Amino acid sequence: MRGSGSHVDGWIDVIDASVVGDGQLVEAEVEGHHVLVTVVDGTPYIADAHCPHMGGPLPKGKLDGTVLTCPWHHSQFDLTDGHVVRWTDWTGPVKTMSEFVRHPRPLRVYEAKIEHERIWIGPQKEPPPVVT
Ligand code: FES
Repeated sequence: MRGSGSHVDGWIDVIDASVVGDGQLVEAEVEGHHVLVTVVDGTPYIADAHCPHMGGPLPKGKLDGTVLTCPWHHSQFDLTDGHVVRWTDWTGPVKTMSEFVRHPRPLRVYEAKIEHERIWIGPQKEPPPVVT
């Protein structure tokens, strides 16, 4: 879904707030960049639409509160700041090897607000420290 793209004071209009139900995951495009938009208990969240593990389609994931689970290998990220809750559901040597090749990294999340019945995207939030 493509927003109007209007810019106001550094914020960009992404999508009509009425099409994003509480807990619903919606993909939108902002200036060619695909993002995931959701609302949890009235608070909007916007993140990259692709998983930082191997690019899984996060709008097809599952949301539990603010914790998003990727549909591919079930990594989990908290949408409040993008921190990794779980890096894949792999175990044992496969997990060790995969983390050596591709160590856990946070999901990019952005400031978001609802104004004039639209959801707006702001700057990228400061990423949380990476735990290795
Ligand atoms: S691509 Fe998302 S967990 Fe692997």
